[in-house]
Amino acid sequence: MRILITGAAGMLGTDAWRIFSEYGYEVIPTDVELAATDKIRPLDITNYDLTRKLFAEVRPDLVFHGAAYTNVDGCERDPDLAHKVNAIGTWNVASAAEEIGAALVAISTDFVFDGSKRARYTEFDLPNPISHYGASKLAGENLARSACRRCYVVRTSWLYGTHGKNFPYTILSLAKTKPEIPIVADQFGTPTYSVDLVEAIIGIIQSPLYGVYHVSNGGETNWQGFAEAILRKNGLVGTRVTPITSDEYAQRFGSPTKRPAYSVLRHYVLELQGKDTLRPWESALDAFLASARDFGKIE
Ligand SMILES: NC(=O)c1ccc[n+]([C@@H]2O[C@H](COP(=O)([O-])OP(=O)(O)OC[C@H]3O[C@@H](n4cnc5c(N)ncnc54)[C@H](OP(=O)(O)O)[C@@H]3O)[C@@H](O)[C@H]2O)c1
Repeated sequence: MRILITGAAGMLGTDAWRIFSEYGYEVIPTDVELAATDKIRPLDITNYDLTRKLFAEVRPDLVFHGAAYTNVDGCERDPDLAHKVNAIGTWNVASAAEEIGAALVAISTDFVFDGSKRARYTEFDLPNPISHYGASKLAGENLARSACRRCYVVRTSWLYGTHGKNFPYTILSLAKTKPEIPIVADQFGTPTYSVDLVEAIIGIIQSPLYGVYHVSNGGETNWQGFAEAILRKNGLVGTRVTPITSDEYAQRFGSPTKRPAYSVLRHYVLELQGKDTLRPWESALDAFLASARDFGKIE
């Protein structure tokens, strides 16, 4: 099977590229012009004509759509750009995939929910985004499903991976200079290791059951709990995490974005199919830290 990846230079795209290749799939990595290399083909997904042209030339069997405008505060400040990339860009990708008969995996987010349910969200709960990022991703989901018949929408949460900026790297870098780190304690979710996400997706694409899937690691925590686990697992017991509220965070760090207070995803569809094998977030974090050390990303 031939897989075209959008956003292949991003955090998830890099792992998807490596893991799909390891599984023996032929991979065509693409990303924006600036990220293009001798291996990564340039593709701006906001350009429909270019997207169509490249898909027609490469003729992938499946498109793994990881490209997105993922800066949540940036999306809040520039909702037009958020919708241009996350909604229209996804529509372009889905339409171009449909035209050549390819299947599509469109990656989405827990931010499509408002967080008021206070119990794990299933695929059958109604989304109600409270940020422009969430709204633009939900619009992308809907456009993808209407434009491409063979479309899997995979929602994930609190993603981190070896290659890219992410929460564990930020915490480890802050711990080098600060004895105390203020972290939000009133938002609950599930950290997800990008490798586990890609492996679960490889399972999902084996079946023709197109539709929405929730995929994250197991369990739940808040950002404070996540930060404390990162420090503990690295022996950085001298650094203290001080809990702050989302409002305090917004004021201190000038973030304009409202985030869901509770966005734990229940993998209900996988569960009902007897296929929910995702490990708990704590063991996934161990695997990530080992891999980050192997790649020389952390000490
Ligand atoms: N990170 C999380 O916590 C999280 C949580 C839930 C869901 N997700 C979803 O998971 C997916 C992957 O996220 P990630 O964290 O790996 O993001 P990422 O590292 O920001 O990767 C996204 C990639 O898409 C590229 N891109 C941006 N605009 C593009 C365009 N117009 N055309 C083509 N490529 C474009 C980006 O390039 P530039 O860097 O140059 O912009 C980047 O290489 C996204 O769909 C995201 O919404 C992420």
